[in-house]
Amino acid sequence: MREFIYFSQNARTSGNFNDLMAAGRMDIACHVVIAAFFLSHSLREDVKLHLIFNGPPDAPKHLEFVYNPEIPISKKDVSGLIKRMLFKYKKGRKIEAFPGCFIEKKSFRQLLEEFEDRDIYILDKKGEDIRTAELGENPVFIVGDHEGIPKQEMKTIRGMEIKKISLGPLTYFASQTVVIVNHELDRALHINMNKL
Ligand SMILES: C[S@@+](CC[C@H](N)C(=O)[O-])C[C@H]1O[C@@H](n2cnc3c(N)ncnc32)[C@H](O)[C@@H]1O
Repeated sequence: MREFIYFSQNARTSGNFNDLMAAGRMDIACHVVIAAFFLSHSLREDVKLHLIFNGPPDAPKHLEFVYNPEIPISKKDVSGLIKRMLFKYKKGRKIEAFPGCFIEKKSFRQLLEEFEDRDIYILDKKGEDIRTAELGENPVFIVGDHEGIPKQEMKTIRGMEIKKISLGPLTYFASQTVVIVNHELDRALHINMNKL
C-alpha cells in the first residue's frame, strides 16, 4: 500500500463553493485525486489518499479515500464528491460519507503522528533521488499544493522522521508528482517481480 498526503493551506473546509480556483485551488485537489487513483479503465487498489485542507471556514479537515469497489469516484465530478464529503462532516466524528470516502477534523501533524511506524517522505526537489533512495515497504508521500507546504506547518512536524525525496530538477504540478511516484513504484514492483 502506498499513501499520499496532499496538504493545502487555503483549500475550503466547507462544501459551499462553485469556483474551484477561488475555493483555495480545489482544482488542484481534484487533479490529485484523479492522479492517485485512476488508471485506464480501472482504479488503483493499492493507494490511500489523504487531503488536508486548512482553509476557511472550519480548518483543518482530513478527507481520506481508500479503494472500495463501491467508491463513487468519477473523473467528471471529483469536485462534486469533495463538496458532498465536506457537507457530510459531523463535529467530533470520523464519517464514512460514501464507500471508501471519510471525513473528519484532523490536522497535518495529527495525521502524521498516526504514521509513526511507517516510512514518511516529503516530495521536495532538493531531496534524494527517488530512483536511488531505498523506500520502505508501505511508503507515505507528502505533497504540497501550488504554494508548497508553508513554513509554519513544517514547524508543527519538526522532529518527526521525514525524508526529502526528489523527482528531479524540474518543478512539477502536485498531481504530476503523484503520477510520477505511482509510476516509479509500479516500475520498481514490476522489476522486482521479474527478478523472482
Ligand atoms: C507546484 S509544486 C509547489 C511549488 C512551490 N513553489 C514550492 O516551491 O514548493 C507542488 C508540490 O509538488 C512537489 N514537487 C514538485 N516538483 C517536485 C520535484 N521535482 N521533486 C519532488 N517534489 C516535487 C512538492 O511537494 C511541491 O510542494
